[in-house]
Amino acid sequence: MSGRSDAQPEPWWRSGVLYQVYPRSFADSNVDGVGDLQGIVGHLDHLEWLGVDGIWLSPVTVSPDVDWGYDVADYCAVHPDFGTMADFDVLVARAHDRGMRVLLDVVPNHTSDRHPWFVQSRSSRDHPMREWYLWADPDADGGPPNNWVSSCGGPAWTFDQPTGQYYMHNHFPEQPDLNWWNDEVRAAFDEIFRFWFDRGVDGFRIDVCNLIIKDADLRDNPPATEDDDLDVQLFGQRPVFSGNRPEVHDLLRRWRRLADSYAEPRVLIGETPVPIDALARFYGDGSDELNLAFNFPFLTAPLDADTLRGVVEDTEAALPAGAWPAWTASNHDMSRFSSRWADGEPERIRAALVVLLCLRGTPVLYQGDEIGLGDSAVAREDLRDPLGVLYWPVYAGRDAMRTPMPWRAGPGGGFTAPGTRPWLPMGDPAACNVEAQRTDPGSVLVLAHDLITLRRERAELRTGAYRSVPAPAGVWAFRRGDRILVVANLSDDPATLDGVEGRILVSSDRGRDGEGIGGRLRLSPWAAAVTATGTGTQAE
Ligand code: GLC
Repeated sequence: MSGRSDAQPEPWWRSGVLYQVYPRSFADSNVDGVGDLQGIVGHLDHLEWLGVDGIWLSPVTVSPDVDWGYDVADYCAVHPDFGTMADFDVLVARAHDRGMRVLLDVVPNHTSDRHPWFVQSRSSRDHPMREWYLWADPDADGGPPNNWVSSCGGPAWTFDQPTGQYYMHNHFPEQPDLNWWNDEVRAAFDEIFRFWFDRGVDGFRIDVCNLIIKDADLRDNPPATEDDDLDVQLFGQRPVFSGNRPEVHDLLRRWRRLADSYAEPRVLIGETPVPIDALARFYGDGSDELNLAFNFPFLTAPLDADTLRGVVEDTEAALPAGAWPAWTASNHDMSRFSSRWADGEPERIRAALVVLLCLRGTPVLYQGDEIGLGDSAVAREDLRDPLGVLYWPVYAGRDAMRTPMPWRAGPGGGFTAPGTRPWLPMGDPAACNVEAQRTDPGSVLVLAHDLITLRRERAELRTGAYRSVPAPAGVWAFRRGDRILVVANLSDDPATLDGVEGRILVSSDRGRDGEGIGGRLRLSPWAAAVTATGTGTQAE
């Protein structure tokens, strides 16, 4: 698709760049304030120009939206807010016409409590679908069956009065967890995967991969200790029985076999919020589980040279041979990197994009990353995320990173019509938008575009080995292959790296593109450069 001439063609998802679309906030074609599938179709031009190889859509399936699509009531139908199945088919066809793949989000850990499976499961203890979910008797005092807590705080169990048992949920009570020990559940999901793969879907992002299988004996989680990560300490327990079970790997192998059975194998990318050693296990032997696993230690690290270099080195060392990293800096659950890492500072945003797009592995941009879009404050009365509603003001939830995409300045920001109220407030489209940046050669958008173009042109940036290079404090320098050197000064002081020979291909401030370097590379604070030795005309 990208005119490669390598002896052994790389699978598209290794050589390409992925882009997460949050459909509700991408583009509203029917002027109801909610983004939709036709809105995405209308902006494929932008994605193709940017150089995106595949898009992952956050859920577009039927949902009562307690957790905005991550509570699914029908896995094989399009949510009316987003359009119809015909619209979906058009999106896939148009994307494919442009050489872009389409990945969906699948949520196998839990359903909506309104899913017909759960409605039947809770209808009676004797219903054949009772075993599709995790039901258990109260403990001796009538309390929950064990000590598991949900990600939303409080017990991971809700009592069902009419049938006298508790059901388990790792998230909200409206998101009952499926019982993945049950073969019928496994078979049902095989069908769901096939349904979409047969429609031309190129892969899935799999929600909370680590949680899917629970301890068969429902043992209590052990208490957290001072050595645990802060989030574990906040929950007061280590989630080693309520999830993170080794048996999940059987399931991933099953799905990989299914995905690989297609003439063009489908790709599986997992949401894997786990430490690096566990992350590595989600790749199986490197070829039989997930194709890509999101690297949360990277996503949650500060923009600090030592820390990020450490995460990348540890990941490189831990992954099995043949496995391929995935790097992302923002998503619909995490503060956008422009705010979290860069505090809105243009130089930092640019330096971060340089490293993100030059690492060995597949970069996954979140919509708006390409223009350096930051979080937008959302007032309490406008909150839509149930976590924000529950925990305001201690935690404002995830709405700030889900606000609509600003396509151009002016009311509605090109997301929706000027007179229409978007489902979440727009932020300030005049301050940061696609249209203005597209025509500005010095913009973040053009930098993102040029870095992606460079990846396409330079085989070493796609496949070359990663190697850290010793650098002064605050500087992260790494080689890709033999001839590319990436240097990022992630500090407030000017920095110098000796022993650099060659030419700058792309500099984060663009002022130094093409500059020759004869031994000493000086970088101003928060500047980054991609350099190459040799003539710079290396063929693919
Ligand atoms: C994943 C999703 C998140 C959702 C949760 C529960 O973490 O990314 O948005 O709330 O799963 O489904």
